[in-house]
Amino acid sequence: MRNVLFATSEAHPLIKTGGLADVSGSLPQALNKLNCDVRVLLPYYQEIKNKLENVKQIAQFSVSGHAGTISLLETRLPDSEVKVWLIDYPKAFDRPGNPYLDEQGLPWPDNAERYALFSKAATLIATGQIIADWKPGIVHCNDWQTGLIPALLAQQPQKPATLFTIHNLAYQGIFSRETYLTLDLPDYLWSPDTMEFHNQISFIKGGLVFANIITTVSPGYAREIQTAEFGFGLEGLLKHRADKLSGILNGIDMDIWDPANDPLIEQNFSVKTLKEKQKNKTSLQKEFSLPVENDTPLIGMVGRLVQQKGIDIVLEALPDLLQESVQLVILGTGEKKYEKAIKQFATQHPKQISALIGYDETLAHRIEAGADMFLMPSRFEPCGLNQLYSLRYGTVPIVQGVGGLLDSIVDTNTQTQKNKTATGYIFTEATPDALLKTLKRAIETYKKPQTWRSIARTGMQQNFSWEESAKKYIQLYEKAATL
Ligand code: ADP
Ligand code: GLC
Repeated sequence: MRNVLFATSEAHPLIKTGGLADVSGSLPQALNKLNCDVRVLLPYYQEIKNKLENVKQIAQFSVSGHAGTISLLETRLPDSEVKVWLIDYPKAFDRPGNPYLDEQGLPWPDNAERYALFSKAATLIATGQIIADWKPGIVHCNDWQTGLIPALLAQQPQKPATLFTIHNLAYQGIFSRETYLTLDLPDYLWSPDTMEFHNQISFIKGGLVFANIITTVSPGYAREIQTAEFGFGLEGLLKHRADKLSGILNGIDMDIWDPANDPLIEQNFSVKTLKEKQKNKTSLQKEFSLPVENDTPLIGMVGRLVQQKGIDIVLEALPDLLQESVQLVILGTGEKKYEKAIKQFATQHPKQISALIGYDETLAHRIEAGADMFLMPSRFEPCGLNQLYSLRYGTVPIVQGVGGLLDSIVDTNTQTQKNKTATGYIFTEATPDALLKTLKRAIETYKKPQTWRSIARTGMQQNFSWEESAKKYIQLYEKAATL
């Protein structure tokens, strides 16, 4: 039995802004099944407080530099055996809305203080100073919010091993020197060799410099972030630590994303009953007030409306794309300029585009189930989960060939069609032209229903369950303990 402290700033279904929550909700379950004993450590946000009834206080303590008492609460991840420990510190976490952003969509002004407090609490728990009878062998940290944990543990005499997973290098947790000075951190953390980054403090560097092992969420992204194009200024450091850096492709929760049993969709279906998928398309067209047309390809998009996801490329391609006989449904939130532009297109072309600007878990499932194609023109994509959900739902992904997208999709060409390995369509340049060309390729194949269904079926038969990836993490936990 291995004790794993899994520190994360979000976990589905308790709190979610993106894929990190999906991973934190499902990887710990897979690890438990492989005989690990996991504690998911999360901030006790107001949204979690409103959702949970069964929480019990198991400790109270304080951390340096922060007045007041922290309560450690225990609960379980809903519908699972996985134990969750919650850091209850109302001043930092008991506020409405998004974990990272205020009502205006700007980072909370005290984010450095909030996640420093979380990381300090994690460090005390990790060294057995709070709960004496449960000590982790490994602390698995995720993204910048937990970057301070390996950094603070580094100088502890009795410390567990650490593994730091990069889910997205674009978010680094960078704060001013003035802010750093308020955090009451040890002096060794202010140096270009540690967490200083161009005269600011970078939380993610704490993980990248100090963790025994670094992972990211696909092998492709592990290579890409060592280059200037994808490294966001950290490529040098990552290259320096290349022998400790690897990529493990995310799995998906096969129960939550299961077209044969999904309670959120109109009509369940499986690889054997793929034709039934059509009913989901009809219902999606109705729900999004699009004309119900069986034979018009329906393209789905779900995600954060930010530059990373290539939404600007879609907007540029739209005038030409709309010359084709296609329909498009979009669900997302993000930068206001993109939200506005999408709404404008939808108003101008109500028979072809329909968009919902908002966050809606149920609709995300219904789009995966009802669309024929799923578009992900990301500029970079550490892993991406929606293309994996799409494969499972027989919805053919059309993706930019980067990171986890390239690692999980096989482009359709004569060869891959012949040997039945094709699962989607890939374009290799982040331009409207490349997107259009590839979409036209997909539309041509869509006109041959048998061929199309064969591609969809191959996708549905791929296995992206967590088991294999969780085994790889366990191997790295063992390796980390020897370093
Ligand atoms: P990222 O973490 O970069 O946003 P991923 O593809 O890894 O991208 O994961 C995104 C997750 O968030 C998926 O589960 C997706 O369905 C969900 N999601 C994103 N935007 C929305 C939205 N507007 N409504 C519902 N679910 C969303
Ligand atoms: C990040 C990435 C996404 C990845 C997710 C979960 O948000 O942008 O590609 O799938 O984390 O690892």
